[in-house]
Amino acid sequence: MNANNKKTNYNTERFQSFNIVVFGGDGDLAIRKIYPALFHRDLDGQINIDYNIVGVTRKDPDEKDFFEKLIPFLENSDHHRYHKDEIEKFLKKIKLIKIADATIEDYSELRTYIKQFPGFQNIYYFSTPSSAFGPIARTLKACDLVDETSKVVIEKPLGYSLESSNAINDEITQAFDEHQIYRIDHYLGKETVQNLMVLRFANNLFERAWNSENIDSIQITVSESLGVEKRASYYDNSGALLDMVQNHLLQLLCLVAMEPPVSLEADEVRNEKLKVLRALRPLNKKSVQTDTVKGQYTRGKINGIQVNSYLEDIEKYESKTETFVAMKAYVDNWRWKNVPFYLRTGKRMIKRYSEIVINFKEVRHNIFPSKEKLNNNKLIIRLQPEERIELIQMTKIPGPGGYRYKPIALKLDYVDSFKERFPDAYERLIIDVIRGNQTLFMRQDELQAAWTYIESITNSWKSSNMQNVLYEAGTWGPGDAVLNENESWITKSWRE
Ligand code: BG6
Repeated sequence: MNANNKKTNYNTERFQSFNIVVFGGDGDLAIRKIYPALFHRDLDGQINIDYNIVGVTRKDPDEKDFFEKLIPFLENSDHHRYHKDEIEKFLKKIKLIKIADATIEDYSELRTYIKQFPGFQNIYYFSTPSSAFGPIARTLKACDLVDETSKVVIEKPLGYSLESSNAINDEITQAFDEHQIYRIDHYLGKETVQNLMVLRFANNLFERAWNSENIDSIQITVSESLGVEKRASYYDNSGALLDMVQNHLLQLLCLVAMEPPVSLEADEVRNEKLKVLRALRPLNKKSVQTDTVKGQYTRGKINGIQVNSYLEDIEKYESKTETFVAMKAYVDNWRWKNVPFYLRTGKRMIKRYSEIVINFKEVRHNIFPSKEKLNNNKLIIRLQPEERIELIQMTKIPGPGGYRYKPIALKLDYVDSFKERFPDAYERLIIDVIRGNQTLFMRQDELQAAWTYIESITNSWKSSNMQNVLYEAGTWGPGDAVLNENESWITKSWRE
């Protein structure tokens, strides 16, 4: 049955009425993701408790303008159940409050509003630059707006190094304990990423073969055709390594590489992910030269449309920021001894295309008389643009006259197999915050371990003065790290 016609019965046991206060409440993230996520979960009947939304703005609130911006994102979705009344009802839940500075006086309206709802949990979503996190957290506490049931949600960039990330954390922990902090990585809320857990731990078949004895290499690719959009100043201080690898790609790697957790309890899962991050082999001045490639895009064409170079996009002609990274990572533990994990990500690539490929080893001995090459099995988990799983296996070509074979894909197309609507990653993550489930959020020690590894790369790039390789926009990236649709099947990758 189509999910649009029915109300699913969700377990609402752990839900408590809440106020969600979004700092940066008129910003891009809030309008495109946070409010629509709440709207859709409510439509699906998952939030059948009282709640209020406060959008904190720095300017005088202009409700009309705000709603004009928001409504298209509520309407423009694949959720067909809503109609005008539902949008109206939802908008009534939103109150805009101006806070110009992090002072007790400026917080008085927020305080008065929140205090009207004793017994509600207060969720503070810091959708602001991280430099504002400390002052906001301190003022909330000073205004007596943080109690045991309060939560705080934060987004990257959580620093640009281990030290700066720790400093941000120290500021937040002045008001919130670790069990109240939700560090979002939206990749963990994606359906296919969630399915990775089910695929690995609900199927005996794969888990038995999930090790260096049977797996040759693993590839994790997130290629984007978008450029830096309106985020030039943020992006130019981060680059592809910090923007994508430090968080999304390493989190995907953790889910692929971790040991089976004892249960899905938050700390059980996070303990296993932490072990993987700690086992990552640090890179050094020598190994970054052979095991990493960084690149920057020049002008090119995407879908026939001419696009600017990165330097033109950011209007800063001397920038050395990388917009592409390809690298080989090793998880130095028993299970993954010497299995390379190839990570690749870039902006302004030929298309939006993300996948995880598990390349199994070749069969030990070819018994077939033709001795034609037997391709190795591959499990391909496609995240974008379509969500799909394929198992590539050798299959006999029908007909007499000896054995002829070729690789055929066994396909599970998510959209065809499940007629459900695919919720946006934020829908799942925000619901988890409301009900207090931290499984899909990074713990501070995970973040530290990820930074320690990433710093081994940034420091080595610096000390070896490693340069960007230029690549044309609309391609698969620098020649050294070539990837194309067919080659995503390859076993060996660049520089091998
Ligand atoms: C964000 C990055 O975290 O993820 C962006 O800051 C990137 O640069 C985005 O474009 C990609 O997310 P998705 O879900 O579109 O793959």
